[in-house]
Amino acid sequence: MSEYKIPEKGIDKALLLEQLKTYGSDDKDWKNGKVWSLVYHLDDEHSDFMKTVYTSYFSENGLNPVAFKSLKRFEHETVRMTLDMLHGGTKSVGNMTSGGTGSITIAIKCYRDYFLSKRKLIKGVYKFIQPEMILPASAHPAFRKAAQYFGVKVVEAPLDKNFRVDVKAVKRLINLNTMLIVGSAPCYPYGVIDPIEDLGKLAKRRNIPLHVDACVGGFILPFVEALGYPIPAFDFRVEGVTSMSADIHKYGYAAKGASLILYRSMDIMKHQFFIDESWCGGIYISPSLQGTKPGGAIASAWAALKAIGREGYMTNAKLLMELTQSMVDGINAIDGLEVMGHPEVCLIGFRSSDKRKVNIFVIGDLMEKKGWHIDRQQNPNSLHISLNPTHEFATEEYLKDLKDCVAHAKAHPELKNEGDAAMYGMVAKIPLRGMIKKELMSLMEEMYGPEGKMPDNETQDEKNDIVSKLARTYIEWAEKLESIFSK
Ligand SMILES: Cc1ncc(COP(=O)(O)O)c(C=O)c1O
Repeated sequence: MSEYKIPEKGIDKALLLEQLKTYGSDDKDWKNGKVWSLVYHLDDEHSDFMKTVYTSYFSENGLNPVAFKSLKRFEHETVRMTLDMLHGGTKSVGNMTSGGTGSITIAIKCYRDYFLSKRKLIKGVYKFIQPEMILPASAHPAFRKAAQYFGVKVVEAPLDKNFRVDVKAVKRLINLNTMLIVGSAPCYPYGVIDPIEDLGKLAKRRNIPLHVDACVGGFILPFVEALGYPIPAFDFRVEGVTSMSADIHKYGYAAKGASLILYRSMDIMKHQFFIDESWCGGIYISPSLQGTKPGGAIASAWAALKAIGREGYMTNAKLLMELTQSMVDGINAIDGLEVMGHPEVCLIGFRSSDKRKVNIFVIGDLMEKKGWHIDRQQNPNSLHISLNPTHEFATEEYLKDLKDCVAHAKAHPELKNEGDAAMYGMVAKIPLRGMIKKELMSLMEEMYGPEGKMPDNETQDEKNDIVSKLARTYIEWAEKLESIFSK
């Protein structure tokens, strides 16, 4: 018998609203700038406006543009305004999706089918050949997810010393099965833009499509550039770029559930489309992954662009660039820390500049104890922040806390054997990634199992248990390998 049942009679709505508030009180405090990702918030006034817009199209469904011409209009105008900003040209096209992952996933399906369509004559043979895409090591995992879903092989290209993709390596990785090259503008982990112009030249010369992932940068880079910052060309002005993803629910400040997938022309985009002309429920057409499409998200995207306007986006971009500079300078000024590469916009990765003295994951643990929500990165181990207007008054406190934590970590080297630092440290050391994947798979099975376990509910003892279990498995594997190779 489940303890969760739909109540026999509806519960009083005031009580439910109260419960929603109570349960939310345990969430991270993003409003005071304690969270450095996940939420993109311009200001309360704009958010209230977005909520009004969203609810005014709360029930309408973008699935059928004939029924809801308003939504078709909002989507079309949002696509056109964005393509104008990203220099798409008159033949460029696109549509709205549910988010960055939605845009990237449908693009991968589209390029796979485009690639196969060009090889029609040898389709029989091609059944046995897997299309490949060349991905910078820093590209968002949505690409790998899509590759897994759609049977595409990922070929990873390494980064250079500035954390941008190494174009020479990309060139070496191209073969007859390459269906796509990817670049990010910018990549999430380090906020740097891949050399899109060089990738564009290469892609054009080899007649291979190039997708630029501007999910996080699409609605800020154009304004940073307009402010006079030296932003290298990253959009459709680069000839070889055939498509872009840009999330309006990030720095476009629309409601969540709004992103754009954009193409230079319909020649490629048409491979996205799905048509079932024979379904007994009637003819069904769909441009991308979603069936039902929330009207509120589409209306909010349109209204955000119109309400904020270029001037508003520029003002916001200016603030974020100033905050970025003060964070980069502030972090680099702390003895023992260094910013990775040179972030071109407001995403920053930073690490220990002296691993013997400062363990970056200990800093993460100590900062968390001070109430900050910390995003940890690996390969190499580092911490991450992405700035928002909510951080305007939080950066000073963050830098002060960071400095104190570094001093504390230097004085207490034993901390690296405790808490999350020990767990992440162990995870980072294990060369056999399959082991980690297996552990994570069990974690997911527990999270989504009947108990719905929360991953961060582990006690310190449980965390230590995980560390020793990983260590034991690691040692067992090392011994097995040693015995194989010593034979
Ligand atoms: C560069 C980049 N691409 C794609 C995504 C995925 O976006 P979403 O979380 O909206 O699916 C993100 C998210 O942060 C991102 O930073």
